Amino acid sequence: THVVAEPCSGCKYTDCVVVCPVECFYEGEQMVYIHPEECIDCEACVPECPVEAIFHEDNLPEEWKSYLELNATKSEECEVITEKKEPLADD
Ligand code: F3S
Repeated sequence: THVVAEPCSGCKYTDCVVVCPVECFYEGEQMVYIHPEECIDCEACVPECPVEAIFHEDNLPEEWKSYLELNATKSEECEVITEKKEPLADD
């Protein structure tokens, strides 16, 4: 699976969600999460994220390892998101 990590938090650009062919992104308050059983590792979302928040689980930086579990639990609790919206980050 792929994992959304800390750079998404407080940004939530949502460019990633529109390119996902399996609609596996779920929206939390501060960031989005990938459902590990729905993600097909197509990598379409990876280059779309302006803050490089999305990693394959095997390439997840050490300090963000906890996001693997976080994506799994939060994606179960949150609503699916498939359309772009205003980001939290103001740039
Ligand atoms: Fe977050 Fe990047 Fe998507 S900031 S919402 S992972 S485009």
